[in-house]
Amino acid sequence: MSDSSPSIPRHVAIIMDGNGRWAKQRGLPRIRGHEAGAESVRSAVRTCKKLGIKYLTLYAFSTENWIRPRAEIEGLMGLLRYFLGKEEKEFHENRVRLRVMGRMRDLPEKVQSALNRMMEITAHYDEGQLILALSYSGRAELSDAVRNIARRVRQGALEPEKIDEKTISESLYLPDVPDPDLMIRTSGELRLSNFMLWQLSYSELYFAPVFWPDFREKDLIAAVEEYGCRQRRFGDVK
Ligand code: IPE
Ligand code: IPE
Ligand code: MG
Repeated sequence: MSDSSPSIPRHVAIIMDGNGRWAKQRGLPRIRGHEAGAESVRSAVRTCKKLGIKYLTLYAFSTENWIRPRAEIEGLMGLLRYFLGKEEKEFHENRVRLRVMGRMRDLPEKVQSALNRMMEITAHYDEGQLILALSYSGRAELSDAVRNIARRVRQGALEPEKIDEKTISESLYLPDVPDPDLMIRTSGELRLSNFMLWQLSYSELYFAPVFWPDFREKDLIAAVEEYGCRQRRFGDVK
């Protein structure tokens, strides 16, 4: 399969949901669910590589998730660092570039340095990008974009009349990344939870009934196959 095939999405964005419920079902602490979810992350990266999907964005921690119990947040941050260390080989083998989307400065220093290090050493890889949405929300991203645009107007670098959709797209966290073609949410919840509100305008949506730790290669392939059967019209008549 080639990545130029229109039936293969160029960019897949996933709301990885249901780790806590997966653990609860097994009588385990929530963090065990997050650990099992990390395995699904590895599987998703490999499957994207196999299918020729260039961009994979994973919603890993929202700005709203900061209200969770401190122990869970610390567990998640620890897991993120552990994951980065453990997966270094995977990044090199798959030639995947790591990027972060969100208010990275909110994260603990040690997590920031682990992310910065991995972003630096994978910056030259161009076969695929893994984008982690961390301390991310669509509304926060749009607020940050509007603030930047307002600054440019105040400096006299931009005329308010010239502001259009392109100005906004270019002011988002990762302006060079194309909008997701396919958005997947696991766990059966049918909502966006503040994820990529601008970029998902014309994405195909797919809701999987399984919890994220159970979402593996065959599930991602099923989602991509369904995507291939969708007819995208973008408002046109076809
Ligand atoms: C998704 O799983 C991971 C994060 C939001 C960090 P959850 O932790 O939301 O698990 P559920 O939805 O409570 O089962
Ligand atoms: C969305 O899941 C955020 C992430 C997957 C990181 P949540 O579990 O936080 O969303 P809600 O609370 O069910 O809407
Ligand atoms: Mg959840």
